[in-house]
Amino acid sequence: MGLQEKILSKKANIGIVGLGYVGTPLAVEYAKKGFKVQGIDLNKKKVAMINRGENYIEDIDDAELKHLVEEGRISAKTTYEDIKDQDVIYICVPTPFKKNKEPDNSYIHDSVREIAKGLRKEQLIILKSTTYPETTEKEVLPILEATGLKVGTDFSLAFSPERVDPGNKKFTTANTPIVVGGVTPHCTEIASLAIRQVVNLVHTVSNPRVAEMEKLLENIFRSVNIALVNELARMCDRMGDIDIWEVVEAAATKPFGYMPFYPGPGIGGHCILVDPYFLASKAREYDFHSDFIELAAKTNEDMPFYVAGLVRRALSSNGIPFTKAKILVIGVAFKKNIADMRNSPATKVIELLLERGVPEIKYNDPYVPSFKLDDGREMHSIDINPEVIQSFDAVVITTDHSNYDWPMIVKNAKAVVDTRNATKGLQIGREKISKLGSGTRF
Ligand SMILES: NC(=O)c1ccc[n+]([C@@H]2O[C@H](COP(=O)([O-])OP(=O)(O)OC[C@H]3O[C@@H](n4cnc5c(N)ncnc54)[C@H](O)[C@@H]3O)[C@@H](O)[C@H]2O)c1
Repeated sequence: MGLQEKILSKKANIGIVGLGYVGTPLAVEYAKKGFKVQGIDLNKKKVAMINRGENYIEDIDDAELKHLVEEGRISAKTTYEDIKDQDVIYICVPTPFKKNKEPDNSYIHDSVREIAKGLRKEQLIILKSTTYPETTEKEVLPILEATGLKVGTDFSLAFSPERVDPGNKKFTTANTPIVVGGVTPHCTEIASLAIRQVVNLVHTVSNPRVAEMEKLLENIFRSVNIALVNELARMCDRMGDIDIWEVVEAAATKPFGYMPFYPGPGIGGHCILVDPYFLASKAREYDFHSDFIELAAKTNEDMPFYVAGLVRRALSSNGIPFTKAKILVIGVAFKKNIADMRNSPATKVIELLLERGVPEIKYNDPYVPSFKLDDGREMHSIDINPEVIQSFDAVVITTDHSNYDWPMIVKNAKAVVDTRNATKGLQIGREKISKLGSGTRF
């Protein structure tokens, strides 16, 4: 049976390399459609959890995963020993940047080397990890073709970026259109067929380079627009009496040609902070310096420093120096209503405050019981109530989870630095609130 027939009859085995935020929901979608899925992840804990039917991704339904595992539709291994048995192999491994912000594609290279050991005719490999243009053809393909097998005739290779938005209830794997570009037209066709089994709308492009660049455009678009509104927030602070949040809300009433972006304490997560650097680095190989990307990154990365300045000012207006302050940070996940701490700007804000001599910082986040600072120090979420809040000199709101009782927090705080407009509309305690982008002068 050829690969096309196997896919159409749901007899194709699906291999998912990397069982994280991207790979695990994809595994569930294929299993739900009747495919047999094997996940491969080097993390023993995750593999053991999957095999016990235990879920660790918020967007996945616990009972559904358990059922699929019990039915034998999803299983997981820490090795690539069954890679030859997989017909369609997705690569969903991390693509972080290094300390110096250079892209780190070593996870892709490692996984492709393992896949190459079991590569056979009629396999389809789809790279989903976000990366710079040319990765699929110049880094993945040579490793696979070193086996002697040829792309397009023996096996297929495509790039298809991921668009999952953790926590988004409206747009999920199934109803978010997906882009795919294969190394050859046949690769595009067969990859598109495989993806259509779990995604309603697939948009094909001429080659992997377009798909790789397209993904970066999406995230750079966000980075640049967030930078713009962060700059305007600081401008509003300088000018005094204009609230950027009200400005954005008003602009968003325009039904065309405008899309709201919001200021904040900085950019976090795996994508918007990291991805622009992937393209900037690749562009430099071509003697091209992207001013937009660099300027946006600089503006956004300055925000935690700016927020530390807001905190200093809020404290000093109550006569308290940094070196004597007790600070409570509210919300540390990188965005609201999720537990993801990757590159969270709250971590940076806390580190900056500690560096500047603040002797006591505690945090509360219902989604994040504990996390580590860059220096390895462990922080633990504390319970909050009126007495606890009263015991701090300032409360810094870095993530506005929906379940916080803002009136209670503001009522009991001595000073509040709000970087998310969480205190919007509160009348009580307004004089204590320094809100980013609403006229706190420096
Ligand atoms: N999380 C998102 O919202 C999102 C959205 C779009 C794109 N992406 C991109 O998708 C890719 C994966 O992101 P993620 O959020 O799922 O990452 P993740 O860290 O949640 O998961 C990646 C998994 O890969 C595993 N892994 C690492 N090296 C491996 C190897 N050699 N073999 C097998 N498994 C290995 C890790 O143990 C981990 O469980 C990244 O390139 C990311 O930029 C992520």
